Amino acid sequence: MASTLIKDAFLATSKDRGRYDIFLQNGKILAIGLGVGAHHADEVIPAKGLTLLPGVLDTHVHFREPGGTHKESLESGSKAAAAGGVTTFFDMPNTSPSTTTLETMAAKKALAAQSSFVNYGFFMGATSDNLEVLNTVPQVAGIKIYVGSSTGSLLVSGPEALDQIFANGDRLIAVHSEDEAMIQENQSRLGDQASVYDHGLIRSPEAALKATQQLIRLAKKYQRRLHIVHVTTAEEVAYLRDHKIPGLITAEACPHHLFLNTPTVYDQFGTLAKVNPPIRDGKHAEALWQGLLDGTLDFVASDHAPHTLDEKNQSYLKAPSGMPGVQTLLPLLLNQVASNKCSLKQVVDWACTQPASAYGVKNKGAIQLGYDADLVLVDLKKTQSVTRAQSYSKSEWSCFEGCKLQGWPVMTFVNGVKVCEHGVICADEPVGRPVVFEDRTQPCHTPHPEEAKL
Ligand code: NCD
Ligand code: ZN
Ligand code: ZN
Repeated sequence: MASTLIKDAFLATSKDRGRYDIFLQNGKILAIGLGVGAHHADEVIPAKGLTLLPGVLDTHVHFREPGGTHKESLESGSKAAAAGGVTTFFDMPNTSPSTTTLETMAAKKALAAQSSFVNYGFFMGATSDNLEVLNTVPQVAGIKIYVGSSTGSLLVSGPEALDQIFANGDRLIAVHSEDEAMIQENQSRLGDQASVYDHGLIRSPEAALKATQQLIRLAKKYQRRLHIVHVTTAEEVAYLRDHKIPGLITAEACPHHLFLNTPTVYDQFGTLAKVNPPIRDGKHAEALWQGLLDGTLDFVASDHAPHTLDEKNQSYLKAPSGMPGVQTLLPLLLNQVASNKCSLKQVVDWACTQPASAYGVKNKGAIQLGYDADLVLVDLKKTQSVTRAQSYSKSEWSCFEGCKLQGWPVMTFVNGVKVCEHGVICADEPVGRPVVFEDRTQPCHTPHPEEAKL
């Protein structure tokens, strides 16, 4: 297998600003130092002035295959991932059919093996009656529960079914946390006249908090590993800060909730900005940032949820929820570094180290000897706007279109293979492989705020 030498790069993960050579062979990081591997490399990549990060793990995407390939596929979604510096994705089970059986899981893995340009993992969707398979299906990212309905038909409502899932087994449970009964009640109160400006009233902060409190109680009762996806409210952050148990409970934030605010996002984008849980006002976004900075929220994920413009441009009640984001996740975070809002080390923690640790992913999330050669070389000085032309997602639109960002991926390596260069996919075949999950009840390491400081 070909070998590659990345020469003279800064390492985002090293304490100094010295230059390093990184030698990749057989899909692994074989040497890190100065002058290493110079005589053996088939290809030398001059990286002076560029910074090397571990490849991003985006642990929350919806690539729509099978059943929705008119809006995304494992091929198009994984290319968008690579172009955005994401070298591993975990795909959600709300496809059509839903991923709730051994057969549908096996079929997805087989499709990914044929078509994914980056590494992949999949969630198993919980229903009210597939408990056994949730605990026996091999090598999955975790169990996904919708306690509030969203795109697709997956829903586990009712306390008994939920209790059963938490009580049996020890695999990680990731949850879409909104209280379904409260959503339904708000929906019927607001009726057919509701507009997109009501989305945050229907899917209210109270509905999110109530579900999150209930889930945390269950995780503690059964000592069950819980991950709360796409947290959106200041109240949940405050509750998590007081009640989260390190190693048992983790939580994530998404770029659209961190960077976009209501009501302006609806003035600008209308139903394109309809997403579950809703984008909220600046006070909530500020609390999410605080949560990330102090370790209450563990990491970021895109919740890449593509829909076509025609689908999104329907009336509020008809338009599906969700927006694309896998390709803009890293540039948005790097721009925060350029604006001095956070450090590069924090970006690596939130996008690489912590997701790998939370899900027990083997050999990823760090630039370390023997680790998989999943890497992204970025230019922290490059300034460029988000455009449709760059997008590899089939839904080319973005609520970040036109945003001028500083800090962009220049090259993405997956298993040692250069997959993307300057935003253009250059690998001629899909090189993605299945992620290996450590077989454990996954106590994970969340750094103490002191540790997270530079
Ligand atoms: C997601 C989708 O479209 O699959 N939509 C969304 O609004 N976030 C589903 C989900 O993550 O809830
Ligand atoms: Zn969701
Ligand atoms: Zn989602």
